[in-house]
Amino acid sequence: MSKDNEKRLAGEAAIRYVEDGMVVGVGTGSTVAYFIDALARRRDRIAGAVSSSEQSTRLLRERGIEVLDLNAVGELPLYVDGADECDPHKRLIKGGGAALTREKIVAAASKRFVCIIDSGKRVDILGKFPLPVEVIPMARSYVAREIVKRGGRPVWRDGVVTDNGNWILDVHGLSIVDPIGLERDLNQLAGVVTVGLFAQRPADVVLVGDREMA
Ligand code: A5P
Repeated sequence: MSKDNEKRLAGEAAIRYVEDGMVVGVGTGSTVAYFIDALARRRDRIAGAVSSSEQSTRLLRERGIEVLDLNAVGELPLYVDGADECDPHKRLIKGGGAALTREKIVAAASKRFVCIIDSGKRVDILGKFPLPVEVIPMARSYVAREIVKRGGRPVWRDGVVTDNGNWILDVHGLSIVDPIGLERDLNQLAGVVTVGLFAQRPADVVLVGDREMA
């Protein structure tokens, strides 16, 4: 089956976690776009969505789904989002679409995180996909030097400005054997806004196509 078909199946399968009256946290990316399509078909039965990016906000509004402010709704029952890599413990690399900061906020504010992926995203050890790190622009080269000291090869995603006005470093050459430790360590560097590792708050459920990962 093609990867795109698996993405579609995963996006549609995630609908079974949506209950009537819910405010749903919505991630970003091509897999989530399928989820948004499925969500739109039952828009009259949900209370609205909290979006993780300008891109998803546009898609949600185009499909008639009301986008709510996270500060106004409090804890969310459900967050649905894709990932760039997923290990057997449901720890993730995210941020390929540069939306990692708002994604991490919405994931943190949600009770249940359902991650939707195609089978190509499954890995034993995270790190083959370059780890995105969002940085305050003036800290770019300082953070890059610190990452080099830790054995990574940071590459500036030149020309990309995040929804928060920041820049992205993609860190190559990592084999992330301690994702929680690395997430914590990089988070503490001055100028780092968000590390695209979702290890302290992994997914609760991972759907690979329409199958739930054990
Ligand atoms: C967005 O910043 C990312 O975290 C996405 O969730 C991730 O890149 C997955 O995207 P696709 O569903 O397009 O593969």
